[in-house]
Amino acid sequence: MIYFDNAATTYPKPPQVLAAVGEALVKFGANPGRGSYDMSNATGRMVSATRDKLARFFNCPAPERLVFTSGATASLNIAIKGLLRPGGHVVFSGMEHNAVWRPLKQLEQNGVISLSMVPADSRGRISASAFASALRPETSLLVCLHASNVTGGIMPIAKIGALAKERGIPFLVDASQSAGVLQLDAAAAGIGLLAFSGHKSLYGPMGAGCLYVAPGLELAPLIAGGTGSSSHDWRQPQSYPDHLESGTPNVPGIAGLSAGLDFVLQNGPERIREKNCSNTAWFLRELAGIRRVTVYGPPPEEERVPVITLNIGETDPARAAAILREKHDIAVRAGYHCTPLAHRAVGTGGRGSVRFSLGFYTTREDIERALYAIEKMAG
Ligand code: ALA
Repeated sequence: MIYFDNAATTYPKPPQVLAAVGEALVKFGANPGRGSYDMSNATGRMVSATRDKLARFFNCPAPERLVFTSGATASLNIAIKGLLRPGGHVVFSGMEHNAVWRPLKQLEQNGVISLSMVPADSRGRISASAFASALRPETSLLVCLHASNVTGGIMPIAKIGALAKERGIPFLVDASQSAGVLQLDAAAAGIGLLAFSGHKSLYGPMGAGCLYVAPGLELAPLIAGGTGSSSHDWRQPQSYPDHLESGTPNVPGIAGLSAGLDFVLQNGPERIREKNCSNTAWFLRELAGIRRVTVYGPPPEEERVPVITLNIGETDPARAAAILREKHDIAVRAGYHCTPLAHRAVGTGGRGSVRFSLGFYTTREDIERALYAIEKMAG
């Protein structure tokens, strides 16, 4: 299989990630923070070292407030439902994934909050000044993704973060497509809430992600339960990470995420970024020469994460994906990518698109095979 669905989950995983997940079940096979025996302590130390390492990587000043979740969807729900109070108003971008849009709409439909969507242009770009224009006195949250899973476009989060800081409004960033791929400094970008998954460009396994909650922000926990601390008390602990981390954590997932981040650090985030950029730029350049292919998103000269979304003539995207799979053994994702808002913006709201997303292990030969298949289909 030639794998072009790295924006959903990177594949394959680096060998050290596979080893770390397996080893965790042997070396860290006990509950952290619950027992006083050696294996429980060792597990607790591994979890806490991973937390510290991730907090350093994203420059989150209070590592204990970086909590482990089952993934970005859980992180975003915990942030949105934990922070917003009745009467709140949220400004969000018109490129958000359903993991943001649906919880926001749920709260709106239940009469808890009101919403203003900042529309994207026809290339899926968002402007920080449009965020500024949408602010109201009661605005209680700004939400913007860092990079789009549909177009690969990169959003101006530093500018929106500066606006949020200036107005004293919390800023939630969904970094699912950028974590491990783009430089991301939470403190410098004025990010109050940072959500990301571990199974994409941090090369961890599925089922482990994070939410960072900057000091000063109060979240009501979506899930309450055992934390191994203050067990005599019915109240959920106020201290982090326990405030938002109830139940036995995904220890193998966290160990794998730790090894995935080590892999990124060993290869150098800059080097990975350059490789992605040059492969994506080359893919785009070659696509420009194939007739009947429409590529959506930012112009080729603008930097993007390694995501290319296209249609081939009038071919239905699901049909195109089936041909790619059956005739060329190429794996892509077709349709709406759980992000109908972005498709509406770029003009594919009626049918979606075919998405090729690249990763560390994508080779020039893989891209040549994809180009050959696209050319054949374009006739
Ligand atoms: N959000 C992931 C994607 O874009 C799953 O495919």
